[in-house]
Amino acid sequence: MAGNRTLTIIKPDAVSKGFTGKIIAQIMEAGFAVKAMKLMHLTEKEAGIFYEVHKERPFYGELVEFMSSGPCVPMILEKDNAVADFRKLIGATNPAEAEEGTIRALYAENVGKNAVHGSDSDENAHIEGNFFFNITEMVG
Ligand code: CMP
Repeated sequence: MAGNRTLTIIKPDAVSKGFTGKIIAQIMEAGFAVKAMKLMHLTEKEAGIFYEVHKERPFYGELVEFMSSGPCVPMILEKDNAVADFRKLIGATNPAEAEEGTIRALYAENVGKNAVHGSDSDENAHIEGNFFFNITEMVG
């Protein structure tokens, strides 16, 4: 039976440093199946729409600028309990607080350049997956 889905983005900091392959390997070794994946470069407008929920936050401008600064790799992942298990795999938003061995502890620079995004709910996973991928780009 199919599990739940979550949306991740390997962010521009991790892609530019060559961590994409290692991060994908760690995700797959943790039991997540890749249902959609691509390399792309978000425009400022697209990054602004994706993170619109943070529009009132003081870091919104910085976040949008960073997310549109270079290529990123969005992916839809499937696994039982995908949202919570993936957030555990990536660790706390701030890598200084992320548990040892988590993706952010291993590869993130700081709270802004934090290597990966992970959806925070099943509902947002669905919305975010549809933001990046159309039906012809997803398997299963
Ligand atoms: P992400 O999981 O992609 O969701 C929202 C992002 O906002 C978060 O990861 C961080 O990259 C970013 N963010 C959260 N707090 C801060 C902060 N204090 N300064 C800069 N960026 C932040």
